[in-house]
Amino acid sequence: MFFVRSALLLLIYLCYSSFGYKPVILLHGILTGSESMELIKSRIEEKHPGTKVYNIDRFEGWSSLENMWYQAQQLSQNLTNITKQHPDGVNFLGYSQGALLARTILQATPNHTVHRFISLSGPQAGQYGTSFLHLYFPGLALKTAFELFYSRVGQHTSVGNYWNDPYHKSLYMNYSQYLPYVNNEILSSKSADFKNALTKLNMMVLIGGPDDDVITPWESSQFGYYDGNGTVVTLMDRSIFKNDAIGLKTLYDKKKLKIVTVPGINHFMWHINVSICDNYILPYLD
Ligand SMILES: *[C@@H]1O[C@H](CO)[C@@H](O)[C@H](O)[C@H]1NC(C)=O
Ligand SMILES: *[C@@H]1O[C@H](CO)[C@@H](O)[C@H](O)[C@H]1NC(C)=O
Ligand SMILES: *[C@@H]1O[C@H](CO)[C@@H](O)[C@H](O)[C@H]1NC(C)=O
Ligand SMILES: *[C@@H]1O[C@H](CO)[C@@H](O)[C@H](O)[C@H]1NC(C)=O
Ligand SMILES: *[C@@H]1O[C@H](CO)[C@@H](O)[C@H](O)[C@H]1NC(C)=O
Ligand SMILES: *[C@@H]1O[C@H](CO)[C@@H](O)[C@H](O)[C@H]1NC(C)=O
Repeated sequence: MFFVRSALLLLIYLCYSSFGYKPVILLHGILTGSESMELIKSRIEEKHPGTKVYNIDRFEGWSSLENMWYQAQQLSQNLTNITKQHPDGVNFLGYSQGALLARTILQATPNHTVHRFISLSGPQAGQYGTSFLHLYFPGLALKTAFELFYSRVGQHTSVGNYWNDPYHKSLYMNYSQYLPYVNNEILSSKSADFKNALTKLNMMVLIGGPDDDVITPWESSQFGYYDGNGTVVTLMDRSIFKNDAIGLKTLYDKKKLKIVTVPGINHFMWHINVSICDNYILPYLD
């Protein structure tokens, strides 16, 4: 009898320790691949033993520049495949462009079973800065980039899809086929799905900081953005929040929206800094 009870307790303990945390899906940023997320993966495996981590290895390198909707549709199939194997839900973390893409995948998969979504320095409200592109497109100038991006050709690229030039708002609204839709600035037949897909999250965590130097303005990592005069308006004062366009206010009112600001972190450090992982990512994984 004693033996049976101990064996049972041991079994319960083993179950708890191996299934204590939900699986985690990781999505890399632009012009890199899954290897860039290996530190976060191994840290999760080390600190939360037994956690299954899926590190997405599609749309790496140049193919990360493909149209955002196309990438989201494709990866939506991966998400469905993964979550079918984990009925209790999974957590999803994206870094940089991958953070915006991960959110789009959720919105493109309205019946998803993602529990918590972590956005690690992603251009959630758009991007108006070219420094990260200079390595690949040395001639690209900030003030005229809209001419390239707000065109049929420009919309074939991921960056064009979320390029948000505050001084050319009507061109953005007319030509951008992605960001105004996914943020429900332009309503479509999908708008209700887009909102429901986010509202059903158990938690959304938006991590960013003032020393990022790539995400511009850095507040975009938390849905803040420039107004028409180039002044940054933070999330709570923007209509996307006040009108609850995509469910951010609903999440906030339920205390499910976490805004995390960390100074002193350059964009290319967020995903490879162990202390960021330990202090700002692991605590949000359940
Ligand atoms: C679905 O997941 C299984 C198990 O991880 C994997 O072997 C298979 O390649 C996946 N299929 C697709 C279409 O993602
Ligand atoms: C994602 O889907 C692709 C293509 O179906 C498959 O080859 C790959 O293994 C999947 N990856 C994951 C992490 O499920
Ligand atoms: C969600 O819908 C897709 C497409 O209709 C389907 O293949 C998938 O099985 C559904 N997933 C869940 C978790 O119900
Ligand atoms: C945007 O489209 C509207 C309606 O078609 C048009 O009146 C306006 O001139 C366009 N704006 C720009 C900057 O192209
Ligand atoms: C731009 O600034 C002016 C003067 O400060 C202000 O009256 C106006 O509302 C601002 N416009 C926008 C779009 O923020
Ligand atoms: C790593 O993150 C910590 C904050 O958690 C910060 O103090 C430190 O400066 C960072 N290191 C680098 C190299 O960015």
